[in-house]
Amino acid sequence: MIGHPSTSPRASVLNPSLAPSPAVGPWRLLRPLLFRLDAERAHQLAVLLGSSGLAVWLARFAHARPAADVARAPELATRVMGLSFPNPLGIAAGLDKDAQAVTFWQALGFGFVEVGTVTALRQPGNPRPRVFRLPQDGALINSMGFPNAGADVVATRIERLRQRDLLQVPLGINIGKSKVVPATEAAADYRRSFERLGELADFVVVNVSSPNTPGLRALQTADQVQAIVGAIQGPNQALSAPRPLLLKLAPDLADADALACARAAMAAGCAGLVVSNTTVDFSAASTDTAGLAGGLSGRPLFARSTALLRLLREALGPGAVLIGVGGVMDAASAAAKLTAGADLIQLYTGLVYGGPGLPRALLGGLRGGLLAPRQADGACQASRE
Ligand SMILES: Cc1cc2nc3c(=O)[nH]c(=O)nc-3n(C[C@H](O)[C@H](O)[C@H](O)COP(=O)(O)O)c2cc1C
Repeated sequence: MIGHPSTSPRASVLNPSLAPSPAVGPWRLLRPLLFRLDAERAHQLAVLLGSSGLAVWLARFAHARPAADVARAPELATRVMGLSFPNPLGIAAGLDKDAQAVTFWQALGFGFVEVGTVTALRQPGNPRPRVFRLPQDGALINSMGFPNAGADVVATRIERLRQRDLLQVPLGINIGKSKVVPATEAAADYRRSFERLGELADFVVVNVSSPNTPGLRALQTADQVQAIVGAIQGPNQALSAPRPLLLKLAPDLADADALACARAAMAAGCAGLVVSNTTVDFSAASTDTAGLAGGLSGRPLFARSTALLRLLREALGPGAVLIGVGGVMDAASAAAKLTAGADLIQLYTGLVYGGPGLPRALLGGLRGGLLAPRQADGACQASRE
């Protein structure tokens, strides 16, 4: 079982910011072809393929040899929030906003899936083009603005997955504010989404940190967080098994403000936090970003998102669940997130550059070389229920 350790000497020799993000396996050949397409088109193609019968076949294939599958290696299994995760690596929100290819992500070896952001109302998002690759930086900049099919459609899709018993890993649902809803009615809008989706989720992530919905990040104050989480807790506590709630934060908050939001979330009954969303600070990227707007993800986000993660772990102690996301591109950066205090980790941009072989390659690295010293030194903390 894994768990986050206190800082180990090993962590200092890992330098994820310098680690390359090579394509894994056949992705070396496919990536240049796919990168000739507009980034969002390539993404849509991947989700389309993933939602096809191929995904089901892959899922069966992976399931057929569980003993040999690193994604099911007992050393990587963990229990967090009362849920069993076969491994700590998940798909971050945004990749599968409408829950179209969940079985594909689990077939690739991910230990959990977070779908969304879903809003109560269906919406088209911002004008295209709205996703840009920065290959030299192993990064993306996006200004998507939560395009999604809306809570009803996504709920129906997940209901079908549940009825057919196709989910083998925990499913998180990330909810956000509908663009047309004014900030003064944000709490009620989040509540509407929760009422439709909450019971279908194993855990729910409250997203107040996307840079691409006007005014959304202004909801990152202690008062607003309390109001939004409080509004969700009404229907949540009425469930026979209330779902763990997590708040997703931006890396651009000053440390004190992030901590105030985190404490407000915990006081309102959240299980923990997802750290972090994309950044509007492009200064860590070496590519010329003139004319680009939105949120930066991938390798240049690693340092700030990991520093915030570490700060929150130190301030909140072991009682808070922390999901570390931002610049996980390989086993070294994944191990560094765990070392900084993450119970679970996620990636998005890493998959674009590393390809579908990345999850298992990364998990193999965690199991083989990087996790072992931390377990051997006894620094592992019991995972939390
Ligand atoms: C194209 C794109 C769309 C995203 N959409 C969402 C979203 O809808 N909701 C959300 O909470 N995060 C969204 N994110 C942020 C990711 O979930 C993640 O927090 C961020 O990209 C950092 O992880 P990474 O460096 O592994 O990509 C998006 C990221 C990208 C690149």
